[in-house]
Amino acid sequence: MIHRYGGPEVLAVQDVPAPTPGPRDVLIDVRAASLNPIDYKFRERKVWPVLRPRLPIVLGCDVAGVVRSVGAQVDTLAVGDEVFARLEKARMGGLAEQVAADVAVVAKKPRSVDFVEAAAIPLAGLTALQALRDTAALQPGQRVLVHAGAGGVGTLAIQIAKILGLVVVTTTSGKNRELVAGLGADEVIDYTTEDVAAKARDLDAVFDTLGDASELRSLAMVKRGGIVVGVSGMPDPDFALLPWFARPLVWLRTRARRAAVARTGARFAYLFMRPDADELAELAAWVDAGRLRPVVHRRFALTDVKAAFAELETGRARGKIVVTIP
Ligand SMILES: NC(=O)c1ccc[n+]([C@@H]2O[C@H](COP(=O)([O-])OP(=O)(O)OC[C@H]3O[C@@H](n4cnc5c(N)ncnc54)[C@H](OP(=O)(O)O)[C@@H]3O)[C@@H](O)[C@H]2O)c1
Repeated sequence: MIHRYGGPEVLAVQDVPAPTPGPRDVLIDVRAASLNPIDYKFRERKVWPVLRPRLPIVLGCDVAGVVRSVGAQVDTLAVGDEVFARLEKARMGGLAEQVAADVAVVAKKPRSVDFVEAAAIPLAGLTALQALRDTAALQPGQRVLVHAGAGGVGTLAIQIAKILGLVVVTTTSGKNRELVAGLGADEVIDYTTEDVAAKARDLDAVFDTLGDASELRSLAMVKRGGIVVGVSGMPDPDFALLPWFARPLVWLRTRARRAAVARTGARFAYLFMRPDADELAELAAWVDAGRLRPVVHRRFALTDVKAAFAELETGRARGKIVVTIP
């Protein structure tokens, strides 16, 4: 948990009272929780003013575990169910022995994987699904570039894109070429040695997980009418969660992106993923059908959570980093 914003030194492992579940809540005994870049971006105050929960707060957005109790209004899950969730954004609390979450974000975990693999799925998997299907509305046969194919989001995005029938181009460093090809990527570009813009042109879409300068390059790589879905750069000035005082600054900092949209005739959409139990259930069904496989880079015990953050913050993870809870 953190009591103040800052670097890794502000992370504290300590005892806190168990969460008190509300009537719509599911209380989960957490068995595994995966880390996401938003955990350290939040810790560093980089997502303020979009996310402003009161501190101190227990971090952790993704969990898998067993239902310990349910609120009076919960009738879709029961004590003993094995579940997974991308927790509500302003509540978090997954890096703990117990967490309470609204039933609207909790789904039954896929039966064919363990808690560690299940915890690797929610935030990254929902982001990929919402980017490719819900936001870009891509159709079978269309060609999409998935940036950072070896990362937590990328490893799931490649597979989800293939499930949606898309032709997948992805970027990675050379050491991860086999990993991303094994996940189904049709074309692999080593961004450390090859010219990405020259190799991927006239795309229907780019799923851009790199942000800022990359988004400008991505806009030049899609055809007119194509779309770039960005998740790591600036939101749009009219993004609903932005408070009024941040809008002028965001407007200024997104001028180059609007100019690139006007110049290229491509569209840009910023996505801030939504926790969603129904979409999680879809992902679980794909996992159980053998079509979607979470990739776990490394697992850490909760007592080593600082080392887990340090590993994530290298930016070199192959798939997801998961913390196991005793
Ligand atoms: N807006 C949203 O709702 C949302 C949701 C999810 C994620 N995100 C954001 O999306 C980004 C990615 O998340 P993640 O969980 O996938 O992160 P991650 O797992 O930490 O990404 C690490 C991966 O990035 C690859 N990588 C780094 N630089 C690259 C480059 N220039 N080109 C291609 N690959 C590169 C690395 O591969 P190599 O070692 O081969 O370089 C590594 O495998 C983060 O900024 C995160 O905050 C946003």
